[in-house]
Amino acid sequence: MKRLLVMLFLMLATLPAAAGGLAPVIPKASGKPHPEGNLFMRINHMKLMKHDRDQTVREGDREIGHSLKACIECHAVNGADGQPVDISSDKHFCRTCHDFAAVKVDCFQCHNSRPEAKSQVLILPRPGDTNDLAAYLEGAAR
Ligand code: HEC
Ligand code: HEC
Ligand code: HEC
Repeated sequence: MKRLLVMLFLMLATLPAAAGGLAPVIPKASGKPHPEGNLFMRINHMKLMKHDRDQTVREGDREIGHSLKACIECHAVNGADGQPVDISSDKHFCRTCHDFAAVKVDCFQCHNSRPEAKSQVLILPRPGDTNDLAAYLEGAAR
């Protein structure tokens, strides 16, 4: 039964918000989309990140395909102050669906739910990055 509800939710979430406001509005991300596609990520994101905490913490043994730190960077959502919100906000990417589906995760007791200040700067083109220099100058001239 739970499986069925989750599938229903995942299908609903593919409808545009205009279709009755039934589905959560998932904030847009930055960076490249997942090669596996959005539906795959909806269904499998929890498996990609799972770690056995005892093993990770005590033995440094990881079998993790995806970084939580990276999720938080591409999926950062800005609040009214222009700064990325943390997990206490219902605008946080991870909460848009979880609140809707009544899922609670404890990941952010240990992990940062916001990008670190320095990676927020890294998202912008920098003059030190030769490939992006032209783009940077073009942006600065505008
Ligand atoms: C390099 C940037 C990047 C990283 C890292 C990243 N994502 Fe994404 N993700 C995207 C983009 C771009 C999309 C396409 C949808 C969009 O435009 O928001 C997306 C889509 C998704 C979706 C589907 C959203 C929808 O509207 O159906 C989920 C769920 C998701 N990502 C979860 C994760 C999780 C969990 C992680 C970490 C394990 C992660 N992403 C890491 C950029 C990223
Ligand atoms: C008790 C503290 C704790 C909790 C709770 C916890 N983690 Fe971790 N996690 C760690 C530690 C310690 C590391 C290793 C240090 C690092 O690389 O950040 C780690 C590493 C990771 C990594 C690899 C490094 C990275 O930045 O992605 C992922 C992915 C991850 N955890 C996901 C999760 C997810 C998903 C949850 C919730 C289901 C979770 N963690 C809950 C302590 C925790
Ligand atoms: C597209 C909607 C959506 C987004 C966005 C989303 N999740 Fe989920 N997540 C779900 C659903 C639905 C479930 C429940 C799946 C189930 O019960 O089978 C879930 C379950 C999980 C679980 C497993 C919980 C458990 O008790 O086993 C973890 C861990 C998780 N999500 C982490 C994250 C993190 C971290 C983010 C943000 C980086 C995120 N999710 C963003 C929809 C989403």
